[in-house]
Amino acid sequence: MPITVEKLNYIYQPNTPFEQTALRQISFTINDGEIIGIMGASGSGKSTLLQCLNGLLRPAGGKIILDGIDITKLSARELNQIRRRIALAFQYPEQQIFETRVYDEVAFGPRNLGLDTGEVEKRVQKALIDTGLNYDYFKNKETASLSSGEKRRVSLAGVLALKAPYLLLDEPTAGLDFEGKVALINHLTDINCQYQTTIVLVSHDINQLVSTCSRIIILHEGQLYLEGYPGDLLRNYAALKACGIEVPTFQELIYRLNCRGWDLNDSISSLPEASREIGKKING
Ligand SMILES: Nc1ncnc2c1ncn2[C@@H]1O[C@H](COP(=O)(O)OP(=O)(O)OP(=O)(O)O)[C@@H](O)[C@H]1O
Ligand SMILES: [Mg+2]
Repeated sequence: MPITVEKLNYIYQPNTPFEQTALRQISFTINDGEIIGIMGASGSGKSTLLQCLNGLLRPAGGKIILDGIDITKLSARELNQIRRRIALAFQYPEQQIFETRVYDEVAFGPRNLGLDTGEVEKRVQKALIDTGLNYDYFKNKETASLSSGEKRRVSLAGVLALKAPYLLLDEPTAGLDFEGKVALINHLTDINCQYQTTIVLVSHDINQLVSTCSRIIILHEGQLYLEGYPGDLLRNYAALKACGIEVPTFQELIYRLNCRGWDLNDSISSLPEASREIGKKING
């Protein structure tokens, strides 16, 4: 079922001198089986939004309808059940990892689901392999000894091992090398195709979101600033720049050439379109 967010507000430390409104009147829908991207400058509210969606933070107002239920009204116990269906990978793996051994860390979620030992082992093995870690080498490693990229992979493996129908991933490729990023994104699109898993992907990399997501939402100072299909959003150069989004290089090039009087069509959404547009101008 789709997830519907209606007029969501979140305030940190309300009624104190440190009160900070992080989300204001956010409304949008996440369709079933879609990969939706969330972008926005630092502090725009992306992590807060994901933590509200997963019930870790309780909003000050608004609704989040998941599987037909408004989860903002649920008790802490009911929310524990919901979190098995809508799994969150934190922005910082250190916030998520608390077991001493890699195996136990990844097995934590599946064990909580009450699965038998054999199924838990199968899931841990697959999740570690899917996140690019050698099972035999890593299973007994101490989590404290892992590099930051390995910690990222282990924390993602723990989330993937839940096989949840909804995945919330907060900057999952941060800290991974180029090949690791490509492999992870390919794996996410595979899961999405194979199991129709709904994925919410937070990233600062517009190229990554444009090539992976069916829709993108842009937050700005806690508000929903832009929402649309990747191609349509990319045509909005000025609006993207205004809220601190780094636009793709081809768009920057067209913009700069236009500033020098080239008069190119700036309604383009891909590198081939940009090179055709420039070629037309050069060749008259
Ligand atoms: N625990 C907290 N107490 C008070 N304010 C907070 C807390 N956590 C976040 N904030 C504030 O809420 C706003 C939104 O923060 P959030 O972490 O959701 O942003 P973000 O878009 O995820 O940023 P980034 O790209 O840096 O991860 C920011 O202004 C931040 O300072
Ligand atoms: Mg964040």
